[in-house]
Formats: sequence, C-alpha cells, structure tokens
Amino acid sequence: MTFKKSKSFALELDQNDPLMSYRELFYYPKNGNGENVLYLCGNSLGLQPKSVRSFVEQELNVWEKDGVLGQHGRWEKFHEKLINNSARLVGANPSEVVVMNALTVNINLLLISFYQPSRTRHKILIEKGAFPSDQYAVESQIKLHGFDPKESLIELAPKRGESTLRTEDMVEKIEEIGGELATIIMGGVNYYTGQAFDMEAVTKAGKSVDAFVGFDLAHAAGNIKLDLHDWNVDFAAWCTYKYLCAGPGAPSGIFVNEIHHNWTGPRLAGWWGQNKQTRFEMGPDFDPILTAEGWQISNAPVLGMTPLLASMEIYDEVGMDKIRDKSEKMTGYMEFLLQKNLSEVTIMTPNDPIQRGCQLSLVVPGGKSIFESIFDRGVVCDWREPNVIRIAPHPLYNRYSEIYEFVQILMQTVRGQ
Ligand SMILES: Cc1ncc(COP(=O)(O)O)c(C=O)c1O
Repeated sequence: MTFKKSKSFALELDQNDPLMSYRELFYYPKNGNGENVLYLCGNSLGLQPKSVRSFVEQELNVWEKDGVLGQHGRWEKFHEKLINNSARLVGANPSEVVVMNALTVNINLLLISFYQPSRTRHKILIEKGAFPSDQYAVESQIKLHGFDPKESLIELAPKRGESTLRTEDMVEKIEEIGGELATIIMGGVNYYTGQAFDMEAVTKAGKSVDAFVGFDLAHAAGNIKLDLHDWNVDFAAWCTYKYLCAGPGAPSGIFVNEIHHNWTGPRLAGWWGQNKQTRFEMGPDFDPILTAEGWQISNAPVLGMTPLLASMEIYDEVGMDKIRDKSEKMTGYMEFLLQKNLSEVTIMTPNDPIQRGCQLSLVVPGGKSIFESIFDRGVVCDWREPNVIRIAPHPLYNRYSEIYEFVQILMQTVRGQ
C-alpha cells in the first residue's frame, strides 16, 4: 500500500478501517483532563474489554448464590470454554491446548517434560536477549539436572553489527550443535526487538537433530498468525494479558503437540491433570488425561480466567486474518511516517512484515529522557533498558490517526519543541 504523510490521509485510513468500531468495545485510558491518552502499549498490557465486568459478575453471582454448587457442571469444566478458541488462535487441535497457571510457571512445567538432558545431549538453545524470565527458567532447569549453564545454555546472537537474527544463522547453529542439543526454547516474537522468528524453519531444524522444540509466545499470541500443529512444534506457552487483553496477571495458555499425548516421561502432576472419569474417586494413582489437559496441576482460577472468555469472544468474532491485516498496515504506516519525518530514529525491528508483529522498537537519540517527555505529552508506550522505546498499537482499538499523532509528538520532542 502507498502511504502519504498528511493528517487527512490518516483520517482516511481510519474511515476505511473495517475494525474501526471495535474500539468501542474497550475502555480507553484518559489523562487527568479526561482526554484520551495515546495508548500504544498492546505488547505489555492490553486494554479492558467493556464486557469483562458482566462476565466476572456472572461468576460472582453464581458464587454468591450457589457457593460450592457452582463447581458442579460449571467451574469444574470452566477451562474447557477456552479450549476451542485458544486452539483456533494458535493453529492447534483442541486436544493440544489448555489454559492454566501463569506463563513462566508453564515454561518451567513444560521444560520438566521437554528438557531431559543426558551426558551427551544436554544443551538448550535460546535467543540471546530472551525475556529474562525465560533465561532464569532455563538456567534453573539446567541446574536442576546437575548441569552447568555455562556449558549447557547456548544463546543465539545476531551477527556483529546487527540487532536481529537471520533464519539461516539459526538453522546453521542448530545443525552445528546437532546431537548435543536437547531442547530449543525461543520467543515467537522477541520482546525487545519485535522480531518474529521463522518458527517453522526453527522447528524443522530442531527436529532434524532430534531436539524438542518449544516457543514462548507471549508476544506472538493474538499478534501474529500461528500454526503450531502444522509446524510440528512440540510445546509452547503464552500469556493472555498483552495482545489478548485478559487483564493483569491473566492466565497462560499451553500447547502440547498431540504426538506427545501418550506421555510417559517426566512431568509434574496434580489432580486437575487426572482422568476426568476418576478424578473425584480420589484414588492414589495418577492416570493423566491424554491431551494437553494432562499437564494441568490445579483447578482453574475461575475469576482470573473469566476476562479471557470475554476477550476471546471478540478475537473469535474478528479472527486473526483481519487482525493481522490491520496490524501489517498499522506497522507499515508507522514505519513510513518515522522514515519520512525522523531520520535520526533507528528502527530496530525488521522491515520485512513477515518478520514482525504490531510493534516497532525504536532507538531514539536522547533515549530515556525522550521516552519520559513523550509520556508527559500523553503517549503510553514503554522503555526497555538499555536503549529502546517500544511502540505497540493494537489493531482492535488503535486508530491510524493516533499513529500520526504519536509521530508528531515524537518529532516535536526530539527537536526540542
Ligand atoms: C516474553 C515473555 N516471557 C515471559 C514473561 C513473563 O510472564 P509471567 O510473569 O506471566 O510469567 C513475559 C512478561 O512480560 C514476557 O514478555
């Protein structure tokens, strides 16, 4: 698409936006004067769907009126309401997904199963600059097995002078580690650079050396299109409070490929993973559900999960195709305006649309002080040490004219106006 620099062009894009009306389904934050801020932080915490309150109230009412009777036929099956929609979101069969716990908890639980180091095959591959929680989880797993992260943790770094990874380098590294590689766990979209990795190519390379391959999809779920089953990914986990708008600390989804559903290897067990026919017989023998649900440990946090039901209803109605279309257009438009108006700003995120979602990571002269000044002028985005401002509009509630306005504010701030 050909973009133009004018404000009238931004307004025209808004008018022709098929998702324009969805903005009304969300509460949009305001400043002290009651004016809308520019909320460009979809990769951190998505906005609240207005329907959340009534969804939560419904469960509160059941609790108020029925107490424990709410369990029967309702809360004991509550997480099942999130199975089909989560499966559609990540390109999985329904048996391959479940929502449970929080993201890093799930990464650790999945690694208990999918990192089984031996003396000869003990290495885990992650991307350099992975989200710290992943780094900590992986190091703790290596130590748990008595190995040394200095030897067992391999980090994929960009080429010297580059800030993002090349697929061919990732594949080459995987092949080079070969038979010593136990597990790959990478972000689907890197939180810092906004780079979307070629998960299919990484998975293929990992499988060719018999490693388990998994992804942290915190920045990918609800942001880019995913086909976990067809890509042959072994396992994955994602949070739901970013693009999926399910609220602070909202629960995480997991994917376990159906090829692993007869799992007899290591896993941490709990009663919610137990065969549903016998769960309430309270017997001592663990007989896991033969789906991703077998990895559940505790009963579902109903009140925490309810906002996700509300937001998944919106996601399901719109579908990832339309979300992705607008995302590509918004990101391309922001890139165009930045390149035309602000040559002093470096865009770290790849310019190839396939290699990014709805985020641009900017290196701006003046760094953190510019971030603080644009915040004072009403731009809610985020700063990530050591030198990046992340801008992440959301296709469901942001407008093209807000992107235009953001670039104007950034321009004025960088030029000291
Ligand atoms: C890529 C990534 N992984 C892991 C986490 C940690 O998530 P949680 O605190 O839900 O475990 C985050 C949080 O923002 C993240 O961005």
